[in-house]
Amino acid sequence: MEVMTLILAPAIFIFTAASMASAAGSPPAVTFVFGDSLTEVGNNNHLQYSLARSNYPWYGIDYDGGQATGRFTNGRTIGDIISEKLGIPSPPPYLSLSPNDDALLKGVNYASGGAGILNDTGLYFIQRLTFDDQIQNFNKTKEAIMSKVGEEAAIKLLNEAIYFIGIGSNDYVNNFLQPFLAAGQQYTHDEFVKLLISTFHKQLTRLYQLGARKMVINGVGPLGCIPSQRVKSRKGQCLKRVNEWIVEFNSRLQKLVSSLNAGLPNAALSFAHTYPAVLDLITNPTAHGFKVSNTSCCNVDTSVGGLCLPNSKICSNRTEYVFWDAFHPSDAANAVIADKLFSAEFSAPPSLAPTPSSH
Ligand SMILES: *[C@@H]1O[C@H](CO)[C@@H](O)[C@H](O)[C@H]1NC(C)=O
Ligand SMILES: *[C@@H]1O[C@H](CO)[C@@H](O)[C@H](O)[C@H]1NC(C)=O
Ligand SMILES: *[C@@H]1O[C@H](CO)[C@@H](O)[C@H](O)[C@H]1NC(C)=O
Ligand SMILES: *[C@@H]1O[C@H](CO)[C@@H](O)[C@H](O)[C@H]1NC(C)=O
Repeated sequence: MEVMTLILAPAIFIFTAASMASAAGSPPAVTFVFGDSLTEVGNNNHLQYSLARSNYPWYGIDYDGGQATGRFTNGRTIGDIISEKLGIPSPPPYLSLSPNDDALLKGVNYASGGAGILNDTGLYFIQRLTFDDQIQNFNKTKEAIMSKVGEEAAIKLLNEAIYFIGIGSNDYVNNFLQPFLAAGQQYTHDEFVKLLISTFHKQLTRLYQLGARKMVINGVGPLGCIPSQRVKSRKGQCLKRVNEWIVEFNSRLQKLVSSLNAGLPNAALSFAHTYPAVLDLITNPTAHGFKVSNTSCCNVDTSVGGLCLPNSKICSNRTEYVFWDAFHPSDAANAVIADKLFSAEFSAPPSLAPTPSSH
């Protein structure tokens, strides 16, 4: 998890979008997705030298057609499931589109496995699209949309679109927690988290300047409990200190979201609390229909990279496992998290979310 950046989107946007999507005659929601391997749908397949790839078996074994697509799970990402619920196709990878593709008007996925908030996160994957790269690509999309529909309509489209942003897990897993990289040695956690938040602040402000208004910012999940981290403990338990760091990061991120909302006119950012939902799934797997949450279905917890390579021996029942590989949740776990997210919306106060019948 690079990955447990789950998309627990708060009520307002998703719900509004769901209403929009289902209301007769109104245009379907346009979504732009930014993030890491939790949300990637195949950008890295187009990066010839990237080591952060999943376009080989057993990835995709439970996806439509049973083929690997570049998603880092056996089936659907949380973003795919949310798109299904919104009644729209999951947006295609940016790098699969031509620069003037009409598909750009319907939403794009910029996410890239190995990406982080910081430029040097995931450096050893050789190639990946960092969050800055993703924003730059979005800027190119904006220019293409303007040349298609004119500036005014383009800005309206971008203002009304929904932006899902899930990033930060790799800044821990593939940067701060790797002692041989600079950040793990150079910074205390307090310094590191301040650097992450100040960088994120600039990046979200850039997205706003480019026209983004409705942004769903996902918190990071309990990385101390992913299989690749648990194996570092003596008895396979969650790493408490890592989880404490993530709680600190999430809390500062939530404050950042509030301050951006207060400072940027018409900004409608929301912070999606993913951590508690994911921790619950890991702590009480049986309550959600799972049997195993402390190891991966692919049995690759200790292998270099932790990915489910073609020679991995996969578990016999993939719906019993919360984790597919050493970092990423299974399709079944993603489904539970995506569902939770939506039911959370139904229980939101009426002032935040219209009732299901209101559209
Ligand atoms: C990160 O890379 C982008 C270009 O991809 C650059 O504009 C930015 O200044 C870099 N940030 C830092 C802190 O080096
Ligand atoms: C977007 O791209 C344009 C031209 O390529 C550049 O002038 C502008 O600074 C970029 N904006 C952002 C926010 O990156
Ligand atoms: C996972 O938990 C089960 C039951 O609690 C235990 O038997 C098993 O050894 C644990 N596996 C790992 C890899 O820690
Ligand atoms: C797989 O596991 C799920 C959940 O425990 C169970 O409902 C299902 O019957 C199992 N499937 C098979 C083929 O054993």
